[in-house]
Parts: sequence; structure tokens; C-alpha cells
Amino acid sequence: MSTPRLDRDDEVEQLPPDIALKARALLKSMVRPHLGMAIFLAVIVVLTALAMVIGPVFIAAALDDGVPRAVDGDKGPLIGAIAAFIASAVASAILAFTSTRLVGITAQKILFTLRARVFAHVQRLDLGYHEKSTSGRLVSRQTSDMESVQQFLSYSLFETALALLQMVFIAVTLVVLDVPLAIVVFVGFIPLFFITKAAHSTQRNAYRRTRTSIAKVIVHFVETMGGIRAVQAYRRQPDRRGTLRRQDSQYRDANTDALRGVAWFAGWTRLVGNVTQTVIIVVGAWLVIEGWTQVGVLAAFILYLRRFYGPLDELVQAFNLYQSASAALEKIAAVLDTDPEVVPPSQPTHLPIREQGAGRSVDLTHVRFSYGDGEDVLPRFDLRIPAGQIVALVGATGAGKSTLVKLVTRFYDPSEGRITIDEVDLRDLDDAELRANVVMVTQESFLFAGTIADNIRIGNPDADDEAVVAAATAVGLDAYIRNLPNGYDTDVKKRGGRLSSGQRQLVSFARVFLADPAVVVLDEATAHLDIPSERLVQNALATVLEGRTAIIIAHRLSTVEIADRVLVMDAGRIIEDGTPNELISGTGRFAQLHRAWKDSLV
Ligand SMILES: Nc1ncnc2c1ncn2[C@@H]1O[C@H](COP(=O)(O)OP(=O)(O)OP(=O)(O)O)[C@@H](O)[C@H]1O
Ligand SMILES: [Mg+2]
Repeated sequence: MSTPRLDRDDEVEQLPPDIALKARALLKSMVRPHLGMAIFLAVIVVLTALAMVIGPVFIAAALDDGVPRAVDGDKGPLIGAIAAFIASAVASAILAFTSTRLVGITAQKILFTLRARVFAHVQRLDLGYHEKSTSGRLVSRQTSDMESVQQFLSYSLFETALALLQMVFIAVTLVVLDVPLAIVVFVGFIPLFFITKAAHSTQRNAYRRTRTSIAKVIVHFVETMGGIRAVQAYRRQPDRRGTLRRQDSQYRDANTDALRGVAWFAGWTRLVGNVTQTVIIVVGAWLVIEGWTQVGVLAAFILYLRRFYGPLDELVQAFNLYQSASAALEKIAAVLDTDPEVVPPSQPTHLPIREQGAGRSVDLTHVRFSYGDGEDVLPRFDLRIPAGQIVALVGATGAGKSTLVKLVTRFYDPSEGRITIDEVDLRDLDDAELRANVVMVTQESFLFAGTIADNIRIGNPDADDEAVVAAATAVGLDAYIRNLPNGYDTDVKKRGGRLSSGQRQLVSFARVFLADPAVVVLDEATAHLDIPSERLVQNALATVLEGRTAIIIAHRLSTVEIADRVLVMDAGRIIEDGTPNELISGTGRFAQLHRAWKDSLV
């Protein structure tokens, strides 16, 4: 038998076909709020390039005009030329400082907004999206892709513009200084053009590969850390390590390829540069000897060539970062381009007023549901739950119980039919009102970093300390919390590991108590608690649910006992429906299940 393959490292991320356009649109929207600054920087970059390019002109003037005149006794022009050269050097230094500083500030502002935007968007995306995509991929969007964009915006964008402008100005200056020599330089551009073109296409490919492969590395890392218990329990470490090595080697190879492109490009441009320079010296010397040009002009040409090929190197580096950043921006744009499938209404309807602690009726009418284009999980579902009823949902694994509660909590919308609470369609409820009324208690009873009080207060961030204590007392957690070293201010990260699964459940019940929802949905943990903890949890649950409407996916007998009604589900349908006593005394599925339960307790 082959070893199971748990890693989907062959899975290719699907990017929309017009992603390059979307990335460009995203870039525009990022820059738009800073348009004034962008224009100002554009002016600065032109001035900087001018200041940098003009220097050799003064040197030429000093040599060809200043020196001979100084020999004749007139030092003025020489001093003037040197002063002008110094002034241009100082100006370019000041401009370089100003521009680098402003670019830094603006780029960080843009990135700050982008990170917030991506985070907000990802939080808005529905559960369906999150169940489909791995969290590691989103982590890599927020970290390595963001970093890549930030590098480009803060360092290379301005450098690129500067290098390009400098090259244009130099080309113009060369023509003004001496046409025949300029022609020699321009002939050297022809191979440069082809080298750049060749580098461009191979580089882009390599950089797309770096983005995809680093994302895989991060996905694998995040998944391994998230499942570290399972990894260690089943000794999957060698396996996970092997996969990481395989994925990381793809990243290494992609980077190596990209850098090989850089080396290749740098080597060729250097060669072309040096050959051009040699030709210039030979041709220039000959022109000077023949008296067709002056030594100063030749000196300026040589200085310009250095300056011309200097930025070319920078341009290569900037070009790399650009490739990497545009691949990263495409990935970020793809995340921002995903729309949530569960959308809040444009014209929300409000629920009727209710008393504190009261429930609301829940109705499912002709509901059909499938995940994506898959088979129907719920083929046709009708259910009426009056306000204040506690319903226990039981059924075989895969029967569709969790799916049903995900619909009632509107983590998904039904494919057909409607779900209402107090006669209002869930799709017409504003998100805040929906979440205030319907609360889902999940199996994992997630604890966030912070104190116990903070974790209870998640149920209602405005609750004061007394309310938090009251909630903890209601679920029987108060005595335990008071015994902790810092009481309610105990940090759960330090304590979280020590909180038993029963205590975690009590914390989540306290949250519900504080949130005071009309409808509580609970996907009960299958893990068996010992009998005293089970009693504790059960009593807490009974207190929290008092008066509210509840749907509990019940795995424990004791939970069924507190229910008013039991629904037995099979393959997305209700096959039994009645009070616990009715069903127990009958001969159906639940009666059998109940007997088996009872037997297991003896
Ligand atoms: N996110 C999903 N995408 C696609 N199919 C899903 C998804 N979640 C569940 N399913 C499928 O829907 C069906 C019902 O699953 P559901 O989780 O509702 O079962 P369940 O009754 O809660 O089972 P259990 O008692 O094991 O929790 C199963 O066949 C399952 O494979
Ligand atoms: Mg389930």
C-alpha cells in the first residue's frame, strides 16, 4: 500500500484570467489617495535626474574652456564651472534625501491601508470561502506577498524612475555634446535592448514561481503548526519535514533561476558597457587627434558612460523587485476580488422587540442546500421551531446536522427556500442584528489571547464587570475563576492550556449568557466528559438556554434530556420528530440509539 498523501502541493492556485488588469486597478486605487504626493515626487525625480546628469557638462566646460582660459590668466570660467559642479552635487544630495524620505513615508502609508483592506476583506468573506481555502495561503498574502510589494514601493519604484530618466537625459546630453560619439554609444544600445527583452520573459516566469512556491511553504508550515498535536501523536514529523523540503526546494530553485537571470543580465550589460567604453576611447582619441572634438567632451562621455551603465545595474535589481512585487500584487488582488457569497441586505428588515432572555421562532421552508455544485446535503427540508423550544438534533455522521445549523446561523444561504426567525428572512437581517439574535457555540470553544474576563466579554463587548461575573456565576464558573492567581484577569494564554475542555465550554456558555441571543445553536463536542463535569456542563447549558430557542446537535444523553423535542436526521431528512419520552418509548431509530446509550453508561 502506498503511504497516504496528505499534502496537496500539486494543487495549483487558480487566479482569474484578467488578474493583471485587476492588479493594475488595485495599484491605481492604492495610489489615488496620494496622487498629489505622487505628482510632487515625479517632479522631484526629474530634478534629481537632471542634477545628477548635469555634473559632467560642467567638467567638460572646466576642461575645454576653463583650463585654457585659466592658462591665459582668466580663472573666472574655471572657478564658475567648478562651483556649478559642486552646486549640482549638493542639489542632487538634498534631492536624494528628500525623495527617499517622502517615498518611504508614502509607501508605508499605502501599505498600511492595503494590509487593513485585505484583513477586513478576508474577515468579511463567508465561511464557505474559508472552508475551501487554507489559512496558510491567506497568511502568505498578508506576509510574504505584502513584503514584496512593500520592498518595491519603498525602494525600487523611485529608483527605477530615476534610473530611466537619467538614461534618457544622458542620451540627450550625449547628442548635444557630440553626435558621432553619441552614435557609437547608441549602437551599443541595440544588444542591450535584446538582452533586456530576453531577461524580462524568463524573469517574470521565475518570479511567479517564487510567489507560488513560498505560499506553499507557508501553507504547509501553518498547517503543520495548527495540527501539531496530530503530527506528533501519529509521528508525522519525518513526513511533514520531507514535504517541506520538497516545497522549499521548489522555492529555492525558483529563486535560483530568478537570480541566474540577474547574473546573466548583469554580466552581459557589463560586457556591452565595457566594449562601448573601449570603442568610445579609441574613436574619441582619434577624433581628438584629428581635431574634430575636444578632450573635455571625451572625458564627459566616459563619465556619462559610467553613469549610464551604473543605473542599468540598479535597474536590473529594481526590475527583479518589480517582477516579484507584481506577481505578489496579483495574488493580493485575487483575494480582494473574491466576493462573499453571503451578503448583507441593502435594505435590512428589523425584528420585533423581545424581552431579555426570550426566544424567537425559527422556520425553514422548502429548504434545499448543496455545497457549491455538489450533491444536495439537504434535499428538501421543512421545520418549524416555536419560540423558546429546545431542540436536540441527533443522527448518523454525515447526516447534515452541522450543515443545518450553519444555515440557521447564516454562515451559508440555502440554495432554495427560506429560513426565517420571527417571520423575517435571515437574508433581510442586518449582520449586526442577525449575530445579536442567533449565536453559534462551536465545538472548539475558541479562546482568544487575553484575560478570562476578555474572553467572556466577547459575548458583549459593552458588558461591565458585574455582568461578566454574573455570566460566569450563571454557568458555575465563578468559583473556579476566583481561585486562579489573578482571578478574572488571568491571562488565558498562560492558563488556556490548563483549561479543561469542560471549562472551555463553560467559558463559551458564559459568552452566550452575556450575549443574550434569542436563538442558540450548539454543535456539541463529541468528546466524553466525565460524569461530574458532564453534570456541570449540562446544568450550565440548561441555565443559559432557559427561555431561548435552541438547536443542539446532541452527542450526549444528558443533553437530550433537557430538550423539549428531538429530531432524528438521516441523509438530510427528518425521520423522527417528537418529545424525548415519546421517541424513547417508541420503536424507532432513537429508541435503539437511546438503549445503546443507556447500556454504555452501565
Ligand atoms: N464545507 C463543505 N463542503 C462540502 N461538503 C461538505 C462540507 N461540509 C460538509 N459537507 C458534506 O455534507 C454532508 C453533511 O455534513 P455535516 O457536517 O452536515 O454532517 P453532520 O451530520 O454534522 O455529521 P457529524 O455528526 O459527523 O458532525 C457530508 O456528506 C459532508 O461530506
Ligand atoms: Mg457535524
